[in-house]
Amino acid sequence: MNEISFIAQKLISEHSLSKDEYALLIINRNPEISEMLLSAADKERRKIYSNKIFLRGLIEISNYCKNDCLYCGIRRGNVNCSRYRLTKEDILTCAEEGYSLGFRTFVLQGGEDGYYNDDRLCDIIDSLKTKYPECAVTLSLGERSYESYKRLFDSGADRYLLRHETADETHYGKLHPDSMSYKNRIECLYNLKEIGYQTGCGFMVGSPYQTAENIAADLKFIETFSPDMCGIGPFIPHKDTPFAAERAGTPELTCFLLSVIRLIKPNILLPSTTALGTIAPNGREKGILAGANVIMPNLSPVSVRKKYELYDNKICTGEESAQCRQCLETRIKSIGFEIVNDRGDIKFI
Ligand code: 5AD
Ligand code: FES
Repeated sequence: MNEISFIAQKLISEHSLSKDEYALLIINRNPEISEMLLSAADKERRKIYSNKIFLRGLIEISNYCKNDCLYCGIRRGNVNCSRYRLTKEDILTCAEEGYSLGFRTFVLQGGEDGYYNDDRLCDIIDSLKTKYPECAVTLSLGERSYESYKRLFDSGADRYLLRHETADETHYGKLHPDSMSYKNRIECLYNLKEIGYQTGCGFMVGSPYQTAENIAADLKFIETFSPDMCGIGPFIPHKDTPFAAERAGTPELTCFLLSVIRLIKPNILLPSTTALGTIAPNGREKGILAGANVIMPNLSPVSVRKKYELYDNKICTGEESAQCRQCLETRIKSIGFEIVNDRGDIKFI
């Protein structure tokens, strides 16, 4: 057996590699190795989740953001971004529609918008949980204080998504303005976990300046942090950002890493992202085949969908929620998987 097959085999049997081994695996991967990891990842996933795919209804509550991340289309510095904020009533209407379509998790996602202080968010979370006690509420609202995370959790929020973006501090500095820090990001993630949230981290594949060693650090971080969820998708340039002319990440490497992450943590909740669906025809289906088990369709009102544009050409921005639900049903069935209407919590084995 050559060195790369040996490393791949080690990942399959031990669910862990050294940082150097991850880097070697990434650099020397080939279609045969990818296929081997995909089939092992598929096996692990089926042992725990069978062919079931969980849905999360994404409600994009605000595209105001105080941050200026260099990659992001809703960065503060983008004067071409037309800003909006959903009201509590808008959010409840989206949830109502989602509920009737079978969604049992609602994800409130938004930029870091001061309007959404703890009082306003607690009120919304409380209303959602009172109306839909059997549903999970996930938040994806960026960096906040320990006290804030705690208050939101005590109001009933179940999960929190905060991508770490990159586990290399120097690389982090190249993607973010000086006002943001890698240390704070990681501290937020540990705070979320300590408070009791089901916590998700994640990163972009093929972000500017990213090296195989950086990705190896991301994988090592996933091993040690052991998140319940992990969001990865290709970087896609947005025309009104400093990274407009940068190359996008590839669907191939994204799918490869989905298989690797499934093997690192077999029970992880792993979305096949909209970014992956944007960059490749049937990208989300490919992500599921590679080991993902979650899809996060958009429940935002069609009137604001185009405004929540983190990257160019995002899919599903013209579709009504019911259309996406139908479309996904067909797509998922066509590859032999099945969407289930439940909260879709992580299964402990
Ligand atoms: N391409 C791909 N993903 C992006 N995100 C932000 N901007 C882009 C982009 N241009 C991701 C970030 C963020 C998540 C909400 O979306 O990883 O955490
Ligand atoms: Fe939105 Fe297919 S999932 S149109």
